[in-house]
Amino acid sequence: MPVIYAITPTYRRTVQKAELTRLSQTFLHLPNFHWIVIEDSSSKTKLVTNFLSHCGVSYTHLNILSNGKRLTLKGISQRNMGLSWLRKNLDPVKQPGVVYFADDDNTYDLKIFVQMRKTKLVSVWPVGFVGGLRFERPIVKNGKVTGWFANWKPERPFPLDMAGFAVNLQLFFKYQELKFSNKTQPGFLESTFVSDTKVSLDDLEPLADNCTKVLVWHTKTEAPNLKGERQKNKKLGHGSDPNVEV
Ligand code: UGA
Ligand code: MN
Repeated sequence: MPVIYAITPTYRRTVQKAELTRLSQTFLHLPNFHWIVIEDSSSKTKLVTNFLSHCGVSYTHLNILSNGKRLTLKGISQRNMGLSWLRKNLDPVKQPGVVYFADDDNTYDLKIFVQMRKTKLVSVWPVGFVGGLRFERPIVKNGKVTGWFANWKPERPFPLDMAGFAVNLQLFFKYQELKFSNKTQPGFLESTFVSDTKVSLDDLEPLADNCTKVLVWHTKTEAPNLKGERQKNKKLGHGSDPNVEV
């Protein structure tokens, strides 16, 4: 059975532990699954270190601080570090695998993992709540991808969200240079990456019932309101107990 390698960049923020908890408790349902978590930080944080050691999912913990401040660079060096780890530590001949870029804030139906495990080159599927649409998706005719339903820069060769495709591990060994580039023009990150796998439209493997089902959602957790902390501080001289990890 091919192993699914999920590459997840993550960064420190109020909801980080909640996001990682939700994600890990999806992944816990999956056999032959390995989670590569890359912190956007100059060193591994205590929160993520402790979290991973107790989460029950097979994992690798890495860290690298983003070199760029542009918002569009988020996650790039982290994902590339995950890819370097794969190349250094795995042998796709001995153990086949599939690589998926699973951002920490999305919502994933288990069914998509069952289906992506069979990816031969690159598989694709719809993603909910992207590009100002209820969903974006590949258009499929007679079992083949023939085009795209996308709203934002639909002229991109592969107008896909990060959550909408998986890649066979072998391709990362066939193309040693395959990675995300921080020189890619904003919004073209995924499209350029998939182009670099050298697949044609015809090669793409449509999942989720010929791309008629939404099994992944590009959700975004709202930052919680913590105004009460300041109010408590004023009244009591302290907020909630800082020794309690949230
Ligand atoms: C969208 C796409 O879904 C991302 O895959 C893409 O990386 C991103 O745009 C982009 O602009 O390049 P979006 O929801 O806007 O994603 O981005 P976030 O969810 O905020 O970040 C994507 C991933 O990078 C997350 O796993 C997040 O934890 C991580 N991240 C974000 C960092 O590691 N560092 C940051 O400073 C921000
Ligand atoms: Mn996101």
